[in-house]
Amino acid sequence: MPHFLIEGNRRLKGEVCVQGAKNSILSILAATVLCSGQCIIHNCPDILDVDFSIEILKYLGGFVYREGKSIIVNMENIKRYDIPDRLMKEMRSSIIFLGAIISRLKKAQVSLPGGCQLGPRPIDFHLEALKNMGVQIHEDGVRLFCIVKEKLQGTKIVLPFPSVGATENIILAATLASGETILENAAREPEIEDLIRFLNLCGAKIKGAGTSKIAIKGVPKLTGAEYKIIPDRIAAATYMAAGAITGGEVLVRNISRIHLNEIVKVLKMCKCGIIMSGENLLIKAPERLTPIKKLKTAVYPGFPTDMQALILSMMTVAKGKSSFEENVFSDRYKYTKELLKMGAQIYVNGKNAIVEGVEQLHAADMAATDLRGGAALVLAGLKAQGISSIRRLRHIDRGYEKLEENLSGLGAKIKRIS
Ligand code: EPZ
Repeated sequence: MPHFLIEGNRRLKGEVCVQGAKNSILSILAATVLCSGQCIIHNCPDILDVDFSIEILKYLGGFVYREGKSIIVNMENIKRYDIPDRLMKEMRSSIIFLGAIISRLKKAQVSLPGGCQLGPRPIDFHLEALKNMGVQIHEDGVRLFCIVKEKLQGTKIVLPFPSVGATENIILAATLASGETILENAAREPEIEDLIRFLNLCGAKIKGAGTSKIAIKGVPKLTGAEYKIIPDRIAAATYMAAGAITGGEVLVRNISRIHLNEIVKVLKMCKCGIIMSGENLLIKAPERLTPIKKLKTAVYPGFPTDMQALILSMMTVAKGKSSFEENVFSDRYKYTKELLKMGAQIYVNGKNAIVEGVEQLHAADMAATDLRGGAALVLAGLKAQGISSIRRLRHIDRGYEKLEENLSGLGAKIKRIS
């Protein structure tokens, strides 16, 4: 089974360039289903979830190919309205194709999505909203059969929780609907702003990007567009955390500063030096990190849930006690069981976790439980004394482009054993 071998306890030093945002490209590739012309998307990361999305677009009848960091898509001749179970199971975000497919073809057939196991990941908000727009949904426990008689109808939707995926699905369903859709309590993540910028470039009429109230005026058709997606703020945070946990000095290039406010605040609390200039950020870490009294995750612009595992991993070797509160997903500490094998002292109780920093972690054989939990194990492996191994790399490869190459470029001793 492919795994990483990491020889830890080495200070990282050097520079790394951050990939394009996974959570932008996935929703924008789904958005190309709405377009009746060629789209060219730049700064696309080379990750498994993009490969799966390209497979879905080709299966639907699209013309898609990659050229380096760009993806060229033309969905003019879309003909299928179903997504194969295998592809739905591969990743959670496949559900955001639903609104786009119904919008173009008036029907869709998908199975319930897969993806990271972070607790139950229902899609009730997505389905409720689509029903309010006139979609009839029949479920047989395995698959969803959706159909709309005429066009989707614009309407007012208030989300019970600012769900990222539901916000994206509603935007995609409303873009070609008749009339206006007002979405309240919408998610405000930067990747949603990216999606809206792309759609408006294609001729959509969407206002309120980045706020919790979004207005989408339905238009008859979308053209294609050429667009460059934003940098991946979670990947950037991962390399910053790698510098922090190893007491290193890392220059992270191609960042979007405003999207890193929360992680920069936390790293400064751990007594890391942070210097930002233009699209670059230099982190200089102390010999030993100062613990964080209480870190609470929240929807954007709060501290991102996707960064929780990265910081918790750092705190396993801080000089004192840290505490965490995970407020977005109900089961996002699975990876901590693997960190315990390295001698970490972590006490999980529901949404809370307490970490007692130790002087030194020792190497262990571990298995990634999910995407960001897998990254947390890599971070701990970079710090631990000895050679650690990490299996189930598929989780990590879904969201990180060239992780081991980038870390090796910073002086880490990490290699992929196929
Ligand atoms: C997106 O997942 C991201 N994935 C996740 O990133 C990210 O952690 C999450 O948003 C929160 O920021 C992509 O964009 C591809 P949600 P999503 O809907 O859309 C509940 C990563 O590491 N909920 O905002 O699935 C849900 O159970 C991944 O890159 C419902 O109850 O997240 C969760 O507790 C992991 N019913 C909360 O809302 C619904 O219909 C937030 O989920 C939908 C969601």
